[in-house]
Amino acid sequence: MSSIVLPRIIEIGGGTLSHLPSVLQNIGSKKPLIVTDHMMVKLGYLATLQSILRDAGIENDVYADTEPEPTAASIQAGIKKVQNEQFDAVIALGGGSSIDSAKAIAVIGKFGGTINEYRFPRQFNEQGLPIVAIPTTAGTGSECTRFTIITDEKTDEKLLCMGTSFMPVAAIIDYGLTISVPARTTADTGIDAMVHAIEAYVSRKANPYSDSQAIAAMRLIGPNLRRVYHDGNNKTARESMMLGSTLAGIAFSNASVALVHGMSRPIGAFFHVPHGLSNAMLLPAVTRFSLDAAKERYADCARALTFALPTDNDSVAGEKLLATLVDLNKELAVPTPQQFGIEKARFFAVLDIMAQQAEASGSPANNPRVPTAAEMVTIYKQLWNE
Ligand SMILES: [Fe+2]
Repeated sequence: MSSIVLPRIIEIGGGTLSHLPSVLQNIGSKKPLIVTDHMMVKLGYLATLQSILRDAGIENDVYADTEPEPTAASIQAGIKKVQNEQFDAVIALGGGSSIDSAKAIAVIGKFGGTINEYRFPRQFNEQGLPIVAIPTTAGTGSECTRFTIITDEKTDEKLLCMGTSFMPVAAIIDYGLTISVPARTTADTGIDAMVHAIEAYVSRKANPYSDSQAIAAMRLIGPNLRRVYHDGNNKTARESMMLGSTLAGIAFSNASVALVHGMSRPIGAFFHVPHGLSNAMLLPAVTRFSLDAAKERYADCARALTFALPTDNDSVAGEKLLATLVDLNKELAVPTPQQFGIEKARFFAVLDIMAQQAEASGSPANNPRVPTAAEMVTIYKQLWNE
């Protein structure tokens, strides 16, 4: 049995940003709040979006102070704005951090409380302000997931919140918005999308629906990740990565992520490593740890990603997957924790608490091989020996 949750409307393709007024009309919104960040203002994306709304005669207001890796404090002013004024929808414009912020603002703005009260294992399914998500990275897949991640800055913990409340009612997947994303962010977010698809496929919560989305995502992402990193102007590659990222989001939202994400969030929270980068640091070691527990599944991933040949048997495909993930990190210039500037003594001082936080997130329990806290500590240590 599986329960599938999706946005009601998904507009896909270059130029679909212009469909925003009809999407808003479709969901009955006459006065949306745009939630975004300073980069979107600087790049002119907010101005473009507002001119589309102005031409359609749609009144709107803006909260542009969301931050990368959002914290409870960084969303507070947005929540206040929703509570003090009358909006009938939230438009989330930006990368995963903007969309995650918008989700929390749309839900807490309507139902009150603090983000801590919504954290896993609670499932929150009440309909908050409807969210129209417009991602500008290919990426987090947040536009099609029933999750948000907000950091509690008091404890340096990334809080995972889930439920249909956090699923956007509509998503506009316009790859044109990703053309100017710099190479580093392109790589980090692209790796994140690849990890979503792999983890959804090997997850203990995988189901035939999530499998179909995960495999389709891997077929799009595998051959195009290097291409977009080396040539951001390759429109075909950008288009494939954008759709792949959304399909990967649908896959993991309807299955789960697993050990990479479980262990990645604490690294992000303690050392402010961008999410996709901490995933990339962990992916080879976690895959090595998990491979034998789901050999056929990992082999399917290797073949779908085109890292192995369709004719390779499962053992060969698994080995090729491991080797390619290591090579990929080199080619995409993924730093080691040391190269990123993390102080080894500090990292080792928080190993146990990171393993505890990983376990508390619930994600490691979805892994094909469920680790003990001690095994997670061992994997964290391996990041320094490679
Ligand atoms: Fe992710």
